[in-house]
Amino acid sequence: MEDVIVVPGGEASKNDLQLFHWLVNAVDQHGIDRHSYIVAIGGGSVLDLVGYVAAVSHRGVKLIRIPTTVLSQNDSGVGVKNGINYHGKKNFLGTFAPPAAVFNDAHFLTTLDERDWRSGMVEAVKVALIKDAAFFSWMEEKAALLTEAEPASMNYLIHRCAELHMQHIGGADPSKAALPARWISATGAHINWNNSPTSNCATAKPFPSASRWTAYTPGSPACWTPKAWNASYNC
Ligand SMILES: NC(=O)c1ccc[n+]([C@@H]2O[C@H](COP(=O)([O-])OP(=O)(O)OC[C@H]3O[C@@H](n4cnc5c(N)ncnc54)[C@H](O)[C@@H]3O)[C@@H](O)[C@H]2O)c1
Repeated sequence: MEDVIVVPGGEASKNDLQLFHWLVNAVDQHGIDRHSYIVAIGGGSVLDLVGYVAAVSHRGVKLIRIPTTVLSQNDSGVGVKNGINYHGKKNFLGTFAPPAAVFNDAHFLTTLDERDWRSGMVEAVKVALIKDAAFFSWMEEKAALLTEAEPASMNYLIHRCAELHMQHIGGADPSKAALPARWISATGAHINWNNSPTSNCATAKPFPSASRWTAYTPGSPACWTPKAWNASYNC
């Protein structure tokens, strides 16, 4: 069986129980256990699906998320929830399970269509309205640049929104209290995935023990990766 499993992107990935079973079987067949890591690369839908697979396999396999959409980088990828749709009901099956690490890489966003840029920004508007008036004012000032997906403004929008999101889920609600162990904001090109970022893939490759982490800095203010992980690992 291959180490990298490619699944359809978008909401379809959360509607198909066969996909869920396929990935759970892959966890079994690869001998993935709770010392291993599953890496999910994709938009919020794929992260939700793979996160659910990881959470229910062996009662919780560690998960690394690599979000590839604006929404997943500024919201769902840095959150604690996962889930799939069931009997036509959105997110009917799911758990709360913080990831072991999240890698945000702005290069993924360059291939998004306009709709996905905008839907991700809408999340930032919501968060700003609830949490940070200054951030909302900043968005108003930068509206024209954000509409054009100007990189520096988008990077700040994603970073600030993710930060506020994490602060929120670190609050008093027990179901939202757990934070990701490490959140990585990486805006440079430093993970050389060979496939097109438009492909969504979830690896079921067991990593060596990642209990010790080492700084990994190219283009990134705060980037951490397991010592044994080759950052050029080809997806
Ligand atoms: N778990 C949470 O806390 C949480 C929070 C909010 C939303 N969600 C879920 O997130 C999902 C929506 O996620 P989304 O908005 O990220 O979209 P998505 O994952 O549904 O992806 C939208 C489309 O973009 C494509 N795509 C993904 N990355 C791309 C890239 N880099 N370049 C080009 N195309 C790319 C996908 O293949 C798909 O066609 C919903 O199912 C929603 O329920 C989860």
